[in-house]
Amino acid sequence: MISAKVNISRKVYNEAYRSYLDELADVQIYYGGSSSGKSVFISQRHLRDVMRGNRNFLVCRQVARTLQKSVVQELKQVIDAWGVQSLFSVNKTDGTITCENGYQIIFAGLDDVEKLKSIRPQKGVITDIWVEEATETDRSSLKQLEKRLRGGDESTKKRILLSFNPVLISSWIYQEFFKNIAWADDQKEYRSDNLTILKTTYKDNAHLTLQDIERLENETDPYYHDVYTLGNWGVLGNVIFRNWRVEDLSEIRNQFVNRRNGIDFGFSSDPAAAPLTHYDKSHKTIYIFDELYETGLTNDILADRLKTMDGNAYWKADSAEPKSIAELQAYGIYVGPAAKGKDSVVHGIQWLQQQTIIVDAKCINMRNELSGYKWKEDAGGNALPIPVDKNNHLIDALRYAYEDEMDGGGWLVM
Ligand SMILES: Nc1ncnc2c1ncn2[C@@H]1O[C@H](COP(=O)(O)OP(=O)(O)OP(=O)(O)O)[C@@H](O)[C@H]1O
Ligand SMILES: [Mg+2]
Repeated sequence: MISAKVNISRKVYNEAYRSYLDELADVQIYYGGSSSGKSVFISQRHLRDVMRGNRNFLVCRQVARTLQKSVVQELKQVIDAWGVQSLFSVNKTDGTITCENGYQIIFAGLDDVEKLKSIRPQKGVITDIWVEEATETDRSSLKQLEKRLRGGDESTKKRILLSFNPVLISSWIYQEFFKNIAWADDQKEYRSDNLTILKTTYKDNAHLTLQDIERLENETDPYYHDVYTLGNWGVLGNVIFRNWRVEDLSEIRNQFVNRRNGIDFGFSSDPAAAPLTHYDKSHKTIYIFDELYETGLTNDILADRLKTMDGNAYWKADSAEPKSIAELQAYGIYVGPAAKGKDSVVHGIQWLQQQTIIVDAKCINMRNELSGYKWKEDAGGNALPIPVDKNNHLIDALRYAYEDEMDGGGWLVM
């Protein structure tokens, strides 16, 4: 059998997306505000296409271990919603979804180069690649993926889909795809043979609860409202850190002996966050060369993760959780509480601003936090001396890590 015969009503797709069901453009961008139905639609389209046969799908995110909880889950939910479980088998280890006609949806992290190279569908070739949360990735990864699609069966049109929230207008994606076509933020779509862009917001998703809608509409921070409610390309006014850059540190990380490491605890909604860093004191340069950033870790698993990162490391952790610190110690982690004195947040930030911060390319979460961390603004858009308390888990941990340096530094108390 080549295609699995199932009739799916068009009603299951949100209306804004319906005309993209059979879209064949080489590059297809689905972006916009949060909860706009992007991930669900792309999952639906993938399953529809895989049942029709002749196509295999590669679904990527930057970090391999984020795949299971996001895209694999989303695809499985559509399979359940459509009641077509009997047509698919799902591999428990890597999530690979195989349709009874033999065609597949395969998952890979862009950080797993070996796996990417070795991927072969059991039948035919990869015809479609979906890069979810594409702003986490870099341009060179996409070029590699494009190469991956070339060759093989030339009779089937190959496609790359990118989906994301438009976090920062400085992103390579904006530069590469939006700038040349003079995209305007009030535009909804762009269509040509080689590129389509569809912008959606929560208003395009008919399946949200009133609560979801209120949460988005009541967002008070102008940046978050712009990006996540309205789906506009983010422009950051009062960014806190401009003193950092990205480098590939993999070749020199062995030389990083002056370690400063921190932990910010989190569990269900917030991640546990822990950067590994090296301090070049004479040049006032901080090298951030590894990170942990993960929700749902109990302290025993967190301890395992920390040991895998560096079994000998000393960590400074959030003193608000003495129980977690005691548990980590019991699991063999060398960890102590950060003092977190009065005004320590702003003082810590001021000290960090006086350093040069170099972040390894693979530390995506630290890069995201540093690019988005900003001062609160008054009604006139002027910066207040209070950071927006969002997306700052690794940054908080970085402050804990360097607390002793700050104390010794004789910095100004205002
Ligand atoms: N066609 C649909 N049918 C049923 N429910 C849907 C559909 N599309 C979206 N939803 C519901 O809306 C929620 C948000 O949709 P989705 O996760 O696709 O948004 P998104 O645009 O990917 O958001 P984000 O930018 O935050 O990743 C889903 O979790 C699901 O509950
Ligand atoms: Mg999504």
